[in-house]
Amino acid sequence: MSNILIKSADDIEKMRIACKLSAEVLDYIAPFVKVGVTTGELDKLCHEFMINVQGTIPAPLNYCPPGYKPYPKATCTSVNDVICHGIPGGKILKSGDIMNIDITVIKDGYYGDCSRMFIVGEPSVQARRLNQVTYECMWIGIAQVRPGAHFGDIGYAVQTHAEKNGFSVVREFCGHGIGKSFHEEPQVLHFGKPGTLAKMEPGMIFTIEPMINAGRREIREDKDGWTIKTKDRSLSAQWEHTILVTPTGYEVLTVSPLMPPPPQWIQNGTNRP
Ligand code: MF3
Ligand code: CO
Ligand code: CO
Repeated sequence: MSNILIKSADDIEKMRIACKLSAEVLDYIAPFVKVGVTTGELDKLCHEFMINVQGTIPAPLNYCPPGYKPYPKATCTSVNDVICHGIPGGKILKSGDIMNIDITVIKDGYYGDCSRMFIVGEPSVQARRLNQVTYECMWIGIAQVRPGAHFGDIGYAVQTHAEKNGFSVVREFCGHGIGKSFHEEPQVLHFGKPGTLAKMEPGMIFTIEPMINAGRREIREDKDGWTIKTKDRSLSAQWEHTILVTPTGYEVLTVSPLMPPPPQWIQNGTNRP
């Protein structure tokens, strides 16, 4: 039995709005991501944009799942070996850093959630390749989405592509259903076997947000209670979109004018590179 909500036409319209707003925060912040800026300054800019320009609420601020302390900032900024939930602060970005910025906004009671990688200055060959493969992993996952497909199809496609390229998939964190709450059923695993887990139906909305490590998949948690890093200190990357299952396939809800285009093979209508 699954308890995955099927969204109404009205829910879907409101999710389109919230999701687009989350993506537009990433468009807004992109030009500020430069050598010398701190993650705390980027967070403050995003926070002010949400509150003053968009009229959205930053969902992470004071978010407090069971067993956690309240998250202290408006965004997550995860640099280099930080896998996810990096807390913005005094860290100064330097050339070669790679950083995920993860934005979740609330608008009219609905949550929109997406993240992108940003490359600061000149990246290493490995950093560039990790970023590229992680972006492809997200899109391979998205390309599996259609009514009747299984959630295990997404995990299998993502894991196969990551491991084929010599990278590893983080197991402890996953995508999630989203709507009038931040995290709801199902858990969208980024590893697994085709034909397993629940079947997708039109009206389901969930994120796909693979976290891919250059080295081993194991994680460690920082003393701050939130920041998750690679145990072996290898680089980690992540991309995230919120996706609607449509009668014929999928709709990416976290769209914005400056979002990076899908890979060419998606545009050609195939579902693998
Ligand atoms: N936006 C993250 C996700 O994709 C969750 C961040 S929770 C926070 O699910 F509290 F760390 F912000
Ligand atoms: Co997110
Ligand atoms: Co998410």
